[in-house]
Amino acid sequence: MKISVIGLGYLGTTHAVAMAKLGHSVIGVEPDLKRMEALATGELPFFEPGLGEALKEVIASGNIGFQTQHDKVSAACDIHFICVGTPQASGQQSADTAYVFAAAKELAAVMKPSSLVVGKSTVPVGTARNLIASMQAVGGFVPKLCWNPEFLREGTALADSLLPDRIVIGSNDPDHNQALKDCYQNILDQGVPVLELDLETAELVKVSANAFLATKISFINAMAEIAEASGADAVKLAEAIGMDNRIGKSFLRTGIGFGGGCLPKDIRGFIARADELGVGESLAFLKEVDQINLRRRQRIVSLATKELGEIADKKITMLGISFKPDSDDLRDSPALEIALRLKALGAIVTVHDPVSLGALEQKSTGLITEIDLQAAIKDAELVVLGTEWAEYKNLDPANFSSLPRIKTVIDGRNVLNVDAWKKAGWRVIAPGRNIVND
Ligand code: UGA
Repeated sequence: MKISVIGLGYLGTTHAVAMAKLGHSVIGVEPDLKRMEALATGELPFFEPGLGEALKEVIASGNIGFQTQHDKVSAACDIHFICVGTPQASGQQSADTAYVFAAAKELAAVMKPSSLVVGKSTVPVGTARNLIASMQAVGGFVPKLCWNPEFLREGTALADSLLPDRIVIGSNDPDHNQALKDCYQNILDQGVPVLELDLETAELVKVSANAFLATKISFINAMAEIAEASGADAVKLAEAIGMDNRIGKSFLRTGIGFGGGCLPKDIRGFIARADELGVGESLAFLKEVDQINLRRRQRIVSLATKELGEIADKKITMLGISFKPDSDDLRDSPALEIALRLKALGAIVTVHDPVSLGALEQKSTGLITEIDLQAAIKDAELVVLGTEWAEYKNLDPANFSSLPRIKTVIDGRNVLNVDAWKKAGWRVIAPGRNIVND
């Protein structure tokens, strides 16, 4: 099929490459010239394992092309996927859907009325229906529109796109769904279930899934607060409750909490939308989910202060700065926020990260970047693990135990082998576990 993918951020780029891999003829439409040109030469503007290679592969196969705006060829595609961002609106809690409406209206002005428009961006419930009306006002016809939320995770984005747990299709006319099912035929042939829903339910599936995941993480982090106050171990607790199949063990990793471009802004946007719908109390608990999450960041700063006394002029090393491993995404990164708070207290903070230092250097944060792990740890008075990269989890602490001035580590993700670190002479502070050994 001939398809266009509008907006080549994380979601759009991955989707465009995945569709080209499935054999479709894809046109990526990205208004940012620099970004479009980079993609056209096979350069990914962000780090995502395996996606760069796949991009080069589909460029070589001739299945994908890139441009900054629609032309005759892209306008004539059978399906147009809208993948633009919906960031948190400036100074507000709600999601900003301006890019979605702009992309849809531009499309309505040029597209064939018989083509299908598919929204993949994460939007507040009710957006799709409004979009149909605003596209009609521009194009003079009622567009065929499906809402098809995406559940990919950074770090495993391509695999998640090609083999998702489920495909959700929302529309107000089930006949519209067929073209999309044809497009996904190869995926459906692998036994991936498809759920055909109304527009509103499809929109809600995405935000409520992210809200549920955020709630699970904040639940275990609330237990970490109880564990810290009572002497229990939240990691062992998560293991024990996770063995109950009704609870499940995933998303119960306690630590410095969730971040990234999705979970934090999605729960805030969801709360704002519930308020607009007059049912704010239904999601009041999500405010607490947000607060618990933000408290974990401050908890690390308090632990650092407790350890070092006066923070000013102390040398602190942050291991990992991205919001999660296998990503260089710094959006709402808990590790970055902790590093900045420590710096604001006067600490000299050196950051090591296997892939995110380039992204950090573009931000002018005043944090020192160091690509060499040994150099990053040298003379440190405190080490904080902020992102659980495999490289840190597998560290043999004996290899660099002579480097820091003080051998104390705060394991912000509860992934270190405490016994091995202890053996190498380190004092390990594990939040939520009450593990502090002298
Ligand atoms: C999330 C969802 O998991 C995806 O399904 C969704 O498609 C995506 O948002 C989106 O809306 O686009 P992602 O932001 O890539 O994906 O990251 P997650 O794997 O969900 O992790 C989010 C944050 O939670 C990270 O900071 C991670 O370190 C933290 N986390 C995760 C924990 O603190 N504990 C856990 O047990 C799991």
